[in-house]
Amino acid sequence: MASRSGFSSRLGFVAAAAGSAVGLGNIWSFPYQTGANGGAAFLFIYLAFIFLIGFPIMVGEIAIGRRTLLNPYGAYKKLGGRSWAWLGFFGVLCGVMILSFYNVVAGWAFGYFVQIAFGDLLSLGSPEAYGNFFSTYTSNVGNNMGFSLMFMVITAFIVARGVQNGIETAAKILMPVLFLILFGLIIYALTLPNAMDGVRFYLQPDFSKITVKTMYAALGQAFFSLSLGMGALITYGSYIGKKENIVSAGFIVTLADTSVAFLAGLMILPLVFSQGIEASGGPGLVFMTLPGVFENMGGMTGTIIGGAFFLLLSVAALTSTVSLLEVPVSYLVDDKKWGRVKSTLIMALIVFLFGLPSLLSQGAVSWLTELTFLCFDGSYPTFLDLIQAAFLEVGLPFGGFMMSLFISQKWKTSNLAEEIQEGFPNYPGSFIEKFLNFMLTWVCPIVLGIMVIITVLQKFFQIVIIG
Ligand code: TRP
Repeated sequence: MASRSGFSSRLGFVAAAAGSAVGLGNIWSFPYQTGANGGAAFLFIYLAFIFLIGFPIMVGEIAIGRRTLLNPYGAYKKLGGRSWAWLGFFGVLCGVMILSFYNVVAGWAFGYFVQIAFGDLLSLGSPEAYGNFFSTYTSNVGNNMGFSLMFMVITAFIVARGVQNGIETAAKILMPVLFLILFGLIIYALTLPNAMDGVRFYLQPDFSKITVKTMYAALGQAFFSLSLGMGALITYGSYIGKKENIVSAGFIVTLADTSVAFLAGLMILPLVFSQGIEASGGPGLVFMTLPGVFENMGGMTGTIIGGAFFLLLSVAALTSTVSLLEVPVSYLVDDKKWGRVKSTLIMALIVFLFGLPSLLSQGAVSWLTELTFLCFDGSYPTFLDLIQAAFLEVGLPFGGFMMSLFISQKWKTSNLAEEIQEGFPNYPGSFIEKFLNFMLTWVCPIVLGIMVIITVLQKFFQIVIIG
């Protein structure tokens, strides 16, 4: 029997896994990716990736975790032997690198909360002024260091408290509040002038806008948003009870994550259009559009709603940074036999240091802001863009590709079925089994394998295979 302490219930697992999934990926990155990659066409492809590829991989990860009761490195080593252990290590590495820049963006969100609640951010007047403020803000080293360090400290505090007291409790309280605020803002956004242009852009697909870039951006975004490809759900799966149905738990998490992303798009894009901002504005989109909206609400109302929004964005980010940090920490706890607190402190420090070049790449240090030896989609990337491309756009789908090969070729879908059956007695022979087996054996390896190659060639070497 497991000596591991785990989630107290299925709700605990679902809340924590949904908390891991819902984060900056949904509210910061999904709307700007949609805006930059053709609107509804992107949304359509994104949804296909989520349900056909993301969901089967999610179930696979949870099953591997619950079977082995280990971190990703230990799990692959246990089921696949030494020749597969590197894959788990690769996941741990992706966790460290993704968290290193994620924490910087989370720091912006928290900084905006502080500026709205305690400063006078909401008085700049025009969309351009908010755009300029964002550039100045992110290039300010002192502010960013302070807030991202603070964010890392809070994350470490929750992770150090352990699975049930820390991760689970935080997620159960925070997730519902986020939903409420989002709904309120959508209703408000839809009443603004020109909001419907935003809705059309978001929901009326123009398939001629689909390019290879749309495809890999949507794929990376799907993995990132569901927290897949690096074993975060292997780790969380190792804390879930045997009697739980991991297929339905995984499906609820997928649906919750997708709804929040969908709603965030329905909030931001109408706001973008009603303020006459470019939908393709990139990573600053949320930070440049929303403050103007809150200012227009006027006085105290704007301050309260704006403050609440950025606070919740920080909180959504926090339940995600927790899951990202939990992966390397569980590796140290299981494999190096270090205590939880020591593992957490050391890892948090490493991640923070690794994040410094990303932090400094937003204007503060010019060579990090423009890596002139690279060219992504026609312009020089920042160091943060580089880490994002390597570990998120390539690393996560690659992890998913290898994981689907692992299940179909090494561990075998019969063992997967046996594990799922523990909490889902009717699984063997069911339609859902056939669907998952087919996806994991054929669709995931083939589609992900091709996509990873195309992404690397096009993104890093500017070799365009198809239009
Ligand atoms: N899914 C989170 C978001 O959308 C980010 C995240 C948390 C993540 N844990 C992860 C991404 C593990 C990949 C792997 O913001």
